[in-house]
Amino acid sequence: MGSLHLFHSLSVSVSTPTILRRPLNKGRVAACLNVDVESPNRLKLKSNGIKDVIEEEGKVIVGTYARAPLVLSSGKGCKLYDPEGREFLDCAAGIAVNALGHGDPDWIKAITDQANVLTHVSNAYYSIPQVELAKRLVANSFADRVFFTNSGTEANEAAIKFSRKFQRFNHPDNEQPDTNFISFTNSFHGRTMGSLALTSKEHYRSPFEPVMPGVTFLEYGNIQAVKDLMKLEKLLLYLSNRFKVQCGLGRTGYLWAHEAYGVFPDIMTLAKPLAGGLPIGAALVTERVSSSIVHGDHGSTFAGSPLVCAAAIAVLDKIANPSLLSSVLKKGHYFKELLTQKLIGNLHVKEVRGYGLIIGIELDVSASPLVDACRESGLIVLTAGKGNVVRLVPPLIISEKELEHAAEILHECLPALDSSN
Ligand SMILES: Cc1ncc(COP(=O)(O)O)c(C=O)c1O
Repeated sequence: MGSLHLFHSLSVSVSTPTILRRPLNKGRVAACLNVDVESPNRLKLKSNGIKDVIEEEGKVIVGTYARAPLVLSSGKGCKLYDPEGREFLDCAAGIAVNALGHGDPDWIKAITDQANVLTHVSNAYYSIPQVELAKRLVANSFADRVFFTNSGTEANEAAIKFSRKFQRFNHPDNEQPDTNFISFTNSFHGRTMGSLALTSKEHYRSPFEPVMPGVTFLEYGNIQAVKDLMKLEKLLLYLSNRFKVQCGLGRTGYLWAHEAYGVFPDIMTLAKPLAGGLPIGAALVTERVSSSIVHGDHGSTFAGSPLVCAAAIAVLDKIANPSLLSSVLKKGHYFKELLTQKLIGNLHVKEVRGYGLIIGIELDVSASPLVDACRESGLIVLTAGKGNVVRLVPPLIISEKELEHAAEILHECLPALDSSN
């Protein structure tokens, strides 16, 4: 037993290393991980009641989240269950993450197979799932190369650093090349300092100012303004949140939302659904951008791990399938029609809008009472915008029957807007 001293006062016991040898099994590794997804009929409160969990959370977790009073303990397909067995139809998908729903068998198999072999090695070495996933992303997009991260905000940080490095690389004689960025109004890009600087919404930025300088905000969604600026300034186009983290990967019925608008980027960031619920992000780049990046410019310990990439391969293989994409468009159209029929006419409902399976119901009042009432009735939905929009981003595998059920609950819960606002 040795002792490792950290700073002045901490000491940690370290065991003498033992050399572990695994018996060879004709080159195969024996399965050692049993993953058992809880099915609804196995739902039992294991120790604490729901109230206790919420109370204990309040004592031990930093208070950054205004959570709904809901404890979720298992899920299957588009259904979620609390520990007492109450069932919810999931139209939030973990904030547009669980594109294949919960417990997709191919996704589970990909993870368990990979976890049985190798989970993490760091980026000091090569690993096959990372290369395979990058090949698939390149084959299915405008991009020539991929940089993996662990989250959406990190993908945006990578895009920010790559853009600055591109400028330095292409203007070697200029001691201070342009480092300005353009973003859209009404935007959110993540919580780290660079992403925060590109986020226009004041309440995310102001407690942490000063943020990175040099960001100009254009009117949200004004593609023409971007195109004009690109002509004038030969800007490197890095795509904003209208297209990427939340709207990419099949959510709109296109694999990438920019395809619908005929705009093609130099850098595009991905995250949320790419690994079906495991943490991942990616910056997709052209060769032009990539050629300005050299060893050591950026990196990550965890990003692109074999486990997460194996999960992402399973997700991408399903999402990139044209029949899944066309089903998303078809279901999105059906859902929007249904919602329009059932909800427009209510005095508080101003608009039902969206593309594919990302749909917003804009209200003239706060959406929270409706979201709460839906949850009480077994439907999970989100808010968006300035809090006056109900956001629906269900798993892409949701059925028409489930969409009808969601529309029915939303309709039934509309009176909540009168009583609470
Ligand atoms: C458009 C957009 N960009 C960036 C992010 C940040 O992603 P993450 O929470 O994975 O860092 C989000 C998350 O909600 C997002 O919706």
